[in-house]
Amino acid sequence: MFMTENKILKLLYDKKDCYLPVQEIETTINISQTQVLEEIQNLKDKGYVIDSTDSGYRLTGVPNLLLPYEIKKNLHTKFLGKNIHFFKEVDSTNDVARELAREGAEEGTIVVAESQRSGKGRRGKKWISPSGGVWMTIILRPDIEPVKAPQLTLVTGVAVAETLDQECGLNIGIKWPNDILIGDKKVSGILTEVETKKGEVDYVLVGIGIDLNMDISIFPPNLRGGATSLKAELDREIQGAELVQRFLQRFEILYNRFKEGEFREILTEWRKLSSTIGKYVEVHKKGRIVYGEAVGVNKDGKLILELDDGTLRKVVSGECIHTDKN
Ligand code: BTN
Repeated sequence: MFMTENKILKLLYDKKDCYLPVQEIETTINISQTQVLEEIQNLKDKGYVIDSTDSGYRLTGVPNLLLPYEIKKNLHTKFLGKNIHFFKEVDSTNDVARELAREGAEEGTIVVAESQRSGKGRRGKKWISPSGGVWMTIILRPDIEPVKAPQLTLVTGVAVAETLDQECGLNIGIKWPNDILIGDKKVSGILTEVETKKGEVDYVLVGIGIDLNMDISIFPPNLRGGATSLKAELDREIQGAELVQRFLQRFEILYNRFKEGEFREILTEWRKLSSTIGKYVEVHKKGRIVYGEAVGVNKDGKLILELDDGTLRKVVSGECIHTDKN
């Protein structure tokens, strides 16, 4: 069914400047007139604007949704995004991706949703995910030691930050380990989950949330205080499918480099984008707080703090807050 829909979309795109006769659709795809009518109605239901006259159909508007056809249309990747599962609403794209991964979904398979009922943030937090955002999970099957899987969060952070930087040219930074900021407000987060089998990585789920075309007033201050969206910052809507396309292309390059052992080089890019290094921070973990100046990240992506007594401390994980020393 999707195949037919995609074929009709291709014909409509190819003939965007004129009307596509119904008969041409019937003969090219080898379907009946009733099927054509049904498929055109399905496309309209998805938000495509299709003008119909006696001369046939013409595509005049495309919905700003992360529809697989729109993402794949001009996608230049080898494996990322070749399989895209789109849902109007799910509990969490990470959970759907987990099911697919368990059933054997290939590396590079993607799950996207228009909204999430119970989006998950890091450290058990809720992630508010109304329509207008990018809520997406990528299934990866890297041949790496499980301890190295969290490094993928930093790799993904670089790809998201570079994509957003290219898109909006605003002051994009990364707060360790994986919050993408515009100025000091969070615009995107990454949740990486790893599944192992017999001590080896079976699959990694990289969940990415980007606050794209939404009004930030919808966030309750206690849940997503300090959050912003691209729309709020730029005062215009962004085409989500094109942004996802650019992200996938950037991420595939970085991911391939990561698999070839270039994590150190990618960290150099991360450091350039970091808005944490050089700041005085608090890192919260399991009710304990460590204070210090963030002086760097080591080769594994651990944060290095210079504590008030001058000693250095490596921090593996935790919630990092940029703060003032006094
Ligand atoms: C964070 O706390 O910063 C991580 C947020 C990750 C949110 C994304 S949205 C898509 C994917 N599905 C989820 O339930 N969470 C991640």
